[in-house]
Amino acid sequence: MKSLFPFDSSVVSQIRAELGIKKVSQASIRQMVQLVDKLQRHFKVQFIRTEMGVPGFASPQIGVEAEIEALRSGVSSVYPPIQGIEIFKNELSRFAKLFMNIDIKPSGCIPTAGAMQASAVTFLVANRRDRQKDTTLLIDPGFPVQKRQLGVFGMKYESFDIYDYRGEKLREKLESYLKKGNISSFLYSNPNNPSWICFTEKELTIIGELANKYDVVVVEDLAYFGMDFRRDYGKAGAEPYQASVANYTDNYVLLFSSSKIFSYAGQRLGAVMISDKLFARSFDDLSSHFVSGQFGPALLQEAIYVTSAGISHSAQAAVAAMLKAVNDSSFDFVGYLKEYGERAAIMKQHFLDAGFYLVYDKDEEEDLADGFYFTVAFPGMNGEELLSELIRYGISAITLDTTGSSRTDGLRICVSHTTLGRMDELATRLQLFAVEHK
Ligand SMILES: Cc1ncc(COP(=O)(O)O)c(C=O)c1O
Repeated sequence: MKSLFPFDSSVVSQIRAELGIKKVSQASIRQMVQLVDKLQRHFKVQFIRTEMGVPGFASPQIGVEAEIEALRSGVSSVYPPIQGIEIFKNELSRFAKLFMNIDIKPSGCIPTAGAMQASAVTFLVANRRDRQKDTTLLIDPGFPVQKRQLGVFGMKYESFDIYDYRGEKLREKLESYLKKGNISSFLYSNPNNPSWICFTEKELTIIGELANKYDVVVVEDLAYFGMDFRRDYGKAGAEPYQASVANYTDNYVLLFSSSKIFSYAGQRLGAVMISDKLFARSFDDLSSHFVSGQFGPALLQEAIYVTSAGISHSAQAAVAAMLKAVNDSSFDFVGYLKEYGERAAIMKQHFLDAGFYLVYDKDEEEDLADGFYFTVAFPGMNGEELLSELIRYGISAITLDTTGSSRTDGLRICVSHTTLGRMDELATRLQLFAVEHK
């Protein structure tokens, strides 16, 4: 039987034109989703979908049951406390102690509408502490929406791709920005979306030391907490602990998200975890936008109040129940997530066997972890050419162009929608691609 692949390029071009996609490298993830949906319908074929970073597992029942119970108890008729419900705050503070070995008071653990709102409210305060410091430095590649947040707020940012600045080289690179005196905050995710690099302790030490020296607030996005599966970060109160800049500076806000670690993305429950010292610090220049002169109260009573006025009781109850189970060692969240790592190992191998190469491949000397994302490229093609071709073989992805990466050859592959049962299909399609692109 004749293979379905590659799809007729004129049909693909026509569907792209209908959606206004001139360049796949500039398309938003949502446009890519629409394109793949249409191609699937037209060619009656199921894609290997790797374009969207969405959870691939069902939410744990502990959370769902706790949420239903909270709703049954009648909480939906009353406004939730803006600072969060007590059990959520206490369990998140316990989680920080048990899985990171850091002390953050429950008062600094404040629920938000996902890590998305957490970064937004942090920028609103951190970037207005000091008139001289009005610019966020993004250690890219990164999650494009956070750049949009800064854009929407009219805030300035600078960025660089970490690719060439691993290890000790990071210090000089960061200082080249810091010396100008305008940097208010650093932002990065760890593990990183999209490259899946994880900072080493050496790199986190450098970031922490420079944050102290230049009084910069580090916004450390832990949306993929514990998902560096090279080590088991899932044992309460025992080493190894999730790596964090919090070990090296008090100038930090950590962003927590339940979306990936508990597959609870739909309920939009994240949090800021503000260091005790930063929470209490006063800054004269906050008066330009805030009534409060203190970091924590300005973020809570003003930035959160004006953006969401609190987060639903029931979602907090759900995440509090899951955190409690994890803290009490009755739910192994890393075990629950580990299949992502198994998928990544197999998928990477299939790409390598078909002649692809890994773009981001090392944390200093160590191979990258297998996890939620990885990045690949194909010799002689840029990301635009590669993705345009790959979709003709029923495989979708996004290019790295919109993530602040300097690697315009690369694609980001998310493993969450490719179950272990579909790995052979992926291999077959990649081999077909390889034969025709020798
Ligand atoms: C690095 C990073 N930060 C934040 C988010 C948003 O998380 P949430 O769903 O909690 O808003 C994502 C989601 O993909 C992400 O990849």
